[in-house]
Amino acid sequence: MAGVRNIVVLTGAGVSAESGLPTFRASDGLWEGHHVEDVATPEAYARDPALVHQFYDARRARLVEVQPNPAHDALARLDAEWPGELLLVTQNVDDLHERAGSRRLLHMHGELTRGWCPASGGRCGWSGDMGQGAVCPACASVGRVRPDIVWFGEMPYGMDRIDAALARADLFVSIGTSGAVYPAAGFVRTARYHGAQTLELNLEPSHGSVFFEESRAGPASELVPRWVAEVLG
Ligand code: OAD
Repeated sequence: MAGVRNIVVLTGAGVSAESGLPTFRASDGLWEGHHVEDVATPEAYARDPALVHQFYDARRARLVEVQPNPAHDALARLDAEWPGELLLVTQNVDDLHERAGSRRLLHMHGELTRGWCPASGGRCGWSGDMGQGAVCPACASVGRVRPDIVWFGEMPYGMDRIDAALARADLFVSIGTSGAVYPAAGFVRTARYHGAQTLELNLEPSHGSVFFEESRAGPASELVPRWVAEVLG
């Protein structure tokens, strides 16, 4: 692709939809039967930790039943073959990008497969249920470990690294995200401000489509492999 050396890709729930993981903003406004504010805020966790743990334990259990789809595979191919800079920023808390083989990857909203203990400040890999009785492997405190997920009202991870990559980007590509949640929804404007080309790949035009120079509509499993083949020439 002429003149493109540094690429930033942003993914959202749409990239994992065809693997069988539901997106957030379905027409009923619920996420797996819950209002987001009942399961994805620090206030919800303080009010009803059992419900929040149950919710994320179920999401973690579901991971072992699903597989990366051709969109994840194509982004892993891009990672392996692209000679310039690449940063894949995902809003997803599933592990499908890394299971497909992506390495230059940043989980800005955290990961289901990790726990965070506010008592020790430590983070650790986590498989299986966490629940309210989880023991921190670093400080042995019981019941303090929580899912290492960025909830609404908390600061996303890696913002300095993301901002630096956006400032250097020649191409910014957004895949399968509604553009409803900031700061991710603002990345397209930051990238444009710094002179990057911008492309959206989404099932349908998103809230933020107007900010992209080009927007392609269709399923990620088709659009992403086609775009990666174009980029790699
Ligand atoms: P959303 O559920 O808001 O949006 C998913 C987008 O994917 C929609 O625009 C769909 O049209 C599109 N889509 C669905 N199926 C697709 C497919 N097969 N191929 C391509 N696109 C498809 O999910 P996100 O934008 O990821 O935050 O949501 C952003 C954040 O809001 C999440 O990370 C989460 C959530 O609340 C936190 O948990 C902090």
